[in-house]
Amino acid sequence: MKGLILSGGKGTRLRPITYTSAKQLIPIANKPVLFYVLEDVSRAGIKDVGIIVGDSAKEIMDAVGDGQKWNLNITYIQQNEPLGLAHTVMISEKFLRGSPFVMYLGDNLLKEGISSFVNNFDSSQAQAMILLAEVNNPQEFGVAELKNGKVVRLIEKPQNPPSNYALVGIYLFTDIIFDAVKQLKPSWRNEYEITDAIQYLIDKGFTVEPHIVKSYWKDTGKLEDILEANRLILEDIASDIQGSIDEKSTIIGKVCIGTGAKIISSTIRGPAIIGENAYIKNSFIGPFTSIGNATQIINSEIENSILMSHSKIIRLRKRIEDSLIGKGVEIKRETKPPKAYRFMIGDHSQIGIY
Ligand code: TTP
Repeated sequence: MKGLILSGGKGTRLRPITYTSAKQLIPIANKPVLFYVLEDVSRAGIKDVGIIVGDSAKEIMDAVGDGQKWNLNITYIQQNEPLGLAHTVMISEKFLRGSPFVMYLGDNLLKEGISSFVNNFDSSQAQAMILLAEVNNPQEFGVAELKNGKVVRLIEKPQNPPSNYALVGIYLFTDIIFDAVKQLKPSWRNEYEITDAIQYLIDKGFTVEPHIVKSYWKDTGKLEDILEANRLILEDIASDIQGSIDEKSTIIGKVCIGTGAKIISSTIRGPAIIGENAYIKNSFIGPFTSIGNATQIINSEIENSILMSHSKIIRLRKRIEDSLIGKGVEIKRETKPPKAYRFMIGDHSQIGIY
């Protein structure tokens, strides 16, 4: 079994973060989403992995390297334009042919991992396997219609969903998928759709086995989902205090504090994670917050948020909530008049002021 991990794409729903960073490297509990995927693939016993890269190729390659850290052999496959999930299969044929493979979207998190699905697929006669998760809002997903436990139809974002089973971004295929992707035409959004390729297999009478995931699954393609993924991962962390905490500070619940971090006259209510060399003074860090390395928070409050590395939050009057803040960002209250907002922010930034 080989792996194909998708780390290209445009990431338009996460601008402006994705103007300067790959969305697969956005940290969830201070670890890039993509690293959870690599760990999962490695745990399933897969060794040879192709990673699809696009405009952010260099950043992904710098972060992942040759894959030794996960005991993986990595081959990078450049996708010059993000022409869809099925397009990534087309351009990876040379790397994948001759072995069944798992295709894993590099921004998806699956708590139970893929090991059992990989084992099932290895011992099954099916030509493809899709993972499904029950959701409350099937209108927003690719949805599977099942009959007698078999997949009969896949529909993208249906107005009248035939079921609540959304397609999880993890698929298992045999070589027959290359025939399917070759006859595809671009969809209305000018992408080669993997759902169309799977529908082709169904229509030709091949077996596409559905598997329903029981634990949580999160596609971290947009802000609310990233924050939810952060909450889900933080819920499971174990406390680990490496940095220093002065006697005027209070730590409540499960909290990780990285090496070299300093907590001074502050309260941290977990679950929360504070990165290496972070500096927290006269501040409150509330539940479900991840603070990146070398970030400073002074005379401020923050909860249910992700702050990446080397940022500064200083003297804010109101608490920061439900936010994703990039690297090297500075938000501070001025001490001198005039009483005004002063911004220098990139395109497509979002600022909410109450
Ligand atoms: P999407 O989230 O569907 O697409 P996107 O990354 O372009 O984001 P947006 O819709 O916000 O513009 O992609 C799912 C995953 O697949 C993601 O990890 C990126 C990856 N991908 C590729 O590698 N190549 C592609 O051509 C596409 C469409 C996605």
